[in-house]
Amino acid sequence: MAAGPGSALRVGCIGAGRMARGVLGGLLISGKVPAQNISVSAPSDSNLHYFRDHGCHTTHSNITVLYEARVIFLATKPHIVPQVLVEISSAVTPDHIIVSMAAGVSLQTLEKLVPDGVRILRMCPNLPCVIQEGAVVFSRGSCAGQEEADMLKDLLSVCGMCEEVPESYMDIHTGISGSGVAYVYLFAEALVEGAVKMGMPSAISSRVAAQTLLGAAKMILETGEHPAKLRYDVCTPGGTTIYGLHELEKGGLKAAVMNAVEAATKRARELDKH
Ligand SMILES: NC(=O)c1ccc[n+]([C@@H]2O[C@H](COP(=O)([O-])OP(=O)(O)OC[C@H]3O[C@@H](n4cnc5c(N)ncnc54)[C@H](OP(=O)(O)O)[C@@H]3O)[C@@H](O)[C@H]2O)c1
Repeated sequence: MAAGPGSALRVGCIGAGRMARGVLGGLLISGKVPAQNISVSAPSDSNLHYFRDHGCHTTHSNITVLYEARVIFLATKPHIVPQVLVEISSAVTPDHIIVSMAAGVSLQTLEKLVPDGVRILRMCPNLPCVIQEGAVVFSRGSCAGQEEADMLKDLLSVCGMCEEVPESYMDIHTGISGSGVAYVYLFAEALVEGAVKMGMPSAISSRVAAQTLLGAAKMILETGEHPAKLRYDVCTPGGTTIYGLHELEKGGLKAAVMNAVEAATKRARELDKH
């Protein structure tokens, strides 16, 4: 069931906002799924134009997406998902594969809202999906098998990293990655402001900070080393880095970030219960 140029796999998306654009945009830009095989619905035209401009079929009718596509992404805000599933339930067939992107909506909740036996998966993207550098994890519902997992992994490989995980990791992914993107922006902002304070203009500081984050992240991925080992390697005895790190330790950076991951994960778990 692998997709690819010329593939007959028809992909739909209910909701056309940032994440729809991130995930479906990746499929489009990479040519993984041809535009004519993509259908997207939303109540207004405000976001549909992006997909229309790329040659996808767009509609205000969610049911139409079910008629036109086999793999259906749900990309509305989480609180809208139940009403969308009730709305489309009569049009869902055993041929459909439903993939929810909604944070905090469990597979159990999703499965209760569709006819018995429907194949459902739940994915958790993050914002860098829009530039094909996302960190995506997904889990299978009780009726989705290895074939559906392989299909989703193959489709989402164009969005960045994509791994199957137990559903209990979903809220942790929100804590480290969905929300984590914002922690990294805050850290980048602090680097830039520190550089500006020391006399480097903001524009160049911003580019240097971003490239530093990118390079450091790639080092973690490419060496496979624990971040602590890489940090240790940068510390020359008596050098600049250990002086800087000492200040970060005094400021409690590590504890603050661990607390942030914990707080966001717990918040995601709370939202999951509603
Ligand atoms: N943004 C992130 O970083 C992130 C990370 C992880 C997970 N997610 C999940 O991704 C999902 C989408 O988030 P987002 O940031 O892309 O939201 P968004 O930008 O607000 O987009 C929501 C989309 O849903 C459409 N919509 C609203 N009601 C609808 C209905 N009844 N039927 C069909 N479409 C409807 C909206 O239509 P209009 O275009 O007409 O307004 C809009 O296109 C959420 O469930 C969120 O939890 C997001």
